Amino acid sequence: MCGIVGYIGTRQAPQICLAGLRRLEYRGYDSAGIAVVHDGELDVRKVVGKLDTMDEELEKNPLVGTIGIGHTRWATHGKPSVENSHPHLSDNGRIAVVHNGIIENYQELREQLTGEGYEFKSQTDTEVMAHLVQKYYEGNLRAAVCRAVADLEGAFAFGIICADSPGELVAVRRFSPLVVGIGEGENYIASDMGAIRQETDRVYVIDDDEVALITTDGIELTDLDLNPIEREVFVIPWPADAAQKGGHKHFMHKEIHEQPDAMRNCLAGRLSDPGKPIKLEGLNMTEQEIKNLRRVVFTACGTAYHAGLVGRFLMESLARIPSEADLAAELRSRDPVVLDNTLCIVISQSGETADTLVALRDMKAKGAKVISVLNVVDSSIARESDGVVYIQAGPEIGVASTKAYTLQIFTMAMIAIHFAEVRGAADPELIRTLKQDLLNTPKLAEELLAREDDVKAIAAKHYEKPNSLYLARGVNLPSAMEGALKLKEISYIHAEGYSAGEMKHGPIALVEPNLFTVAIVVEGEVYEKMIANIMEIKARSGPVIAVATDGDEQIPATGLDEDADPDDVAAQPNDMIWVPPTHELISPITVAIPLQLLAYHIADMRGEHIDQPRNLAKTVTVE
Ligand code: M6R
Repeated sequence: MCGIVGYIGTRQAPQICLAGLRRLEYRGYDSAGIAVVHDGELDVRKVVGKLDTMDEELEKNPLVGTIGIGHTRWATHGKPSVENSHPHLSDNGRIAVVHNGIIENYQELREQLTGEGYEFKSQTDTEVMAHLVQKYYEGNLRAAVCRAVADLEGAFAFGIICADSPGELVAVRRFSPLVVGIGEGENYIASDMGAIRQETDRVYVIDDDEVALITTDGIELTDLDLNPIEREVFVIPWPADAAQKGGHKHFMHKEIHEQPDAMRNCLAGRLSDPGKPIKLEGLNMTEQEIKNLRRVVFTACGTAYHAGLVGRFLMESLARIPSEADLAAELRSRDPVVLDNTLCIVISQSGETADTLVALRDMKAKGAKVISVLNVVDSSIARESDGVVYIQAGPEIGVASTKAYTLQIFTMAMIAIHFAEVRGAADPELIRTLKQDLLNTPKLAEELLAREDDVKAIAAKHYEKPNSLYLARGVNLPSAMEGALKLKEISYIHAEGYSAGEMKHGPIALVEPNLFTVAIVVEGEVYEKMIANIMEIKARSGPVIAVATDGDEQIPATGLDEDADPDDVAAQPNDMIWVPPTHELISPITVAIPLQLLAYHIADMRGEHIDQPRNLAKTVTVE
């Protein structure tokens, strides 16, 4: 969850590390620290809080040095405090370590090292690494790091500097992401490419149990036995300004508005003509394998799981393959039965989510073929999958996932349509309609974004209410769950996403004027049933925001009671969020956009930290 950055060259390392940390702040943000080597000594600054506090600290107590490492922390072991923030120093104060991940056997190592006389100053797991490197250091930093890593169990990406090896930065990883950026007379390390994209577009993606020795003019990659490794340079495919806000108040807002272009990118080279087959480079499945499939299991966490629920619906409806969607953390814990010809589709924006990665490994070990639907290129999940279909959304910085969600559904719709065509499972006319509708979707997304002010006006009516309910049925049930997640994670309003069919089994007891209900009632199979649910809510004086198809004349007045007291919500028309018509099966894509805007504006009106909500990190790399 934490973020690491390092620099070695001729410029001032603290400023470069700080700029990189700002771009990583989404990974965690309860404290931060930077260490440099200068004049043969380590110098460290640490703060609790956001990076602005670090900026102020560096103003008051400047750091000077051309080699440095930085860290932004999201606490796992030990509370947020200066002592627990990274970099951690070895007992002799000569070695500094930044770490992302969790060292599982740290208690045992801590006891052992304490017994050997090492004094611990923090409650963190990381500090054991600083002491271990000191223990093994005999004048060669890289060799000491390799020996120390051999003692560790768990997940880690480390950046390490040493006052006695002032021209070297060493980095190593196992399970946690790490890249080495390549410059001219200077080099970098980072937890992800976005942190250093301003500096370079050329990186080495480091693999498990690989170590990088980085100097001003060279990068050597080896395994832990110091055998050299040849690695191709990876060229980061997005421009340097892609990770900046581009005039928007928040990354989340920018990313909501990037959806039409991202959809066009996702379509490019895959679908351009509704009469032609969809091409999915990277899927890595033969037609025979697709025909043989007996089961598809979707697995993911959070928003990506909601996208997986839509994927399951599409796969079953179109390709007629029995399908299920499981939360990754739950899939692992229930020891699922995996039959022959089972496909597991793993969905993740980051490609680094720990629970999702472990579920992938379990499913693979049980014999499932695994393909992943990912955004971040060359992530851990990508490398362990049998095939990868990228959603092509570009970097997503806001903690609340927006464009990744719609693009995950977009991509899974293409996969389901492709499978349906190969298996001859769906009516060719339906397939053609869905393909045409997918091709139209970027335009529809633009129309929806142009209606933002209407959604903002609705947000202004309801933003002070403490509770909300999101209701839907069928393929849009995940839209209700995702709408509710979006609202709760950035506005802290209590929000529940529920099947409208379950209302009478409990949730209707919550309905009262201070709880607003978002009802998704677009054209399609479940339309009439949703109308009945809206009437039940209005009859109990619950305000309704209806998401309905353009031109629907019935919904605004649904549940209206002309005899009710004019102050009673039962006497007032429903608030309307209009969406342009599209086939019901892919309507979760269009429905998502105004629900993202609704959550965004409600949170903004409440003055919340939208891009960095409390207690959350963008990428959850711990189980
Ligand atoms: O990177 P991933 O897609 O694997 O992340 C999964 C979830 O952690 C993520 O979708 C999370 O739920 C978002 N904060 C929701 O906006």
